[in-house]
Amino acid sequence: MPTVLRTVTATRYVTPLREGGSLPAIVEADDDGLYVCKFRGAGQGPKALAAEIVAGELARGLGLPVPELVLVELDPALAAAEPDPEIQELIVASAGLNLGVDFLPGALPYMPTEPPDAELAADVVWFDALVTNVDRTPRNPNLLRWHRNLWLIDHGAALYAFHAGEPLERARGGFPAIRDHVLLPAAGSIVDADARLTERADPGAAAALVPEEWADGAPYAEFLAQRLQAPREFAEEAERARA
Ligand SMILES: Nc1ncnc2c1ncn2[C@@H]1O[C@H](COP(=O)(O)OP(=O)(O)OP(=O)(O)O)[C@@H](O)[C@H]1O
Ligand SMILES: [Mg+2]
Repeated sequence: MPTVLRTVTATRYVTPLREGGSLPAIVEADDDGLYVCKFRGAGQGPKALAAEIVAGELARGLGLPVPELVLVELDPALAAAEPDPEIQELIVASAGLNLGVDFLPGALPYMPTEPPDAELAADVVWFDALVTNVDRTPRNPNLLRWHRNLWLIDHGAALYAFHAGEPLERARGGFPAIRDHVLLPAAGSIVDADARLTERADPGAAAALVPEEWADGAPYAEFLAQRLQAPREFAEEAERARA
């Protein structure tokens, strides 16, 4: 996990990703890289971007494959070149810092007929139960296949307790939605995943990467630290859902 996220400056809005609910787009940046840009001005707001960073970097720290995350500085002048008024508005509303996800060119959607090995599947299930990620279902797997490997994307719906008041009061407890997880049928023992991963989780380091102007990272670190304390009901519940 990096100690600070790289910041790049968007130089061109390339194309919208129409399948994304939050109107993400591919942008080119001043490092010549292409990024999937998640706009701060989109409906889900900066908390979805904070969740992308906390969950995504926590996953990276656990050794799970997540494309690089960067901060994308956006000049609202880029809107002038866009014919679509909806996109123009989104760019103007997102002036300043946004989230960039390294674009994996030619990545394929996840195919349940080619599941990952049982250990990796169990690790992903355990991780999603920890961060309360509701968006890894057969309908919306948010997994990509790239260069033969599995990649985790789209953690904007994780940590949803932060969209309501008093998230820390919801920190303890299970995560019933885990029964709909796309990798549950392929997963090995969640008890073993729990033993592999608990000590490696560093929510403080992940939360420290959230830009102050989006959210205070401290409550995210506290929420996850509480979930990581034994007994971990989320892991027990995931194991029961698998059996
Ligand atoms: N890093 C990436 N490399 C290649 N393709 C990507 C990448 N990130 C996203 N995509 C593609 O763009 C689509 C939308 O991205 P993502 O799921 O992150 O957006 P979203 O708005 O949160 O979507 P939704 O709410 O519909 O799940 C993905 O399903 C995938 O096809
Ligand atoms: Mg998605």
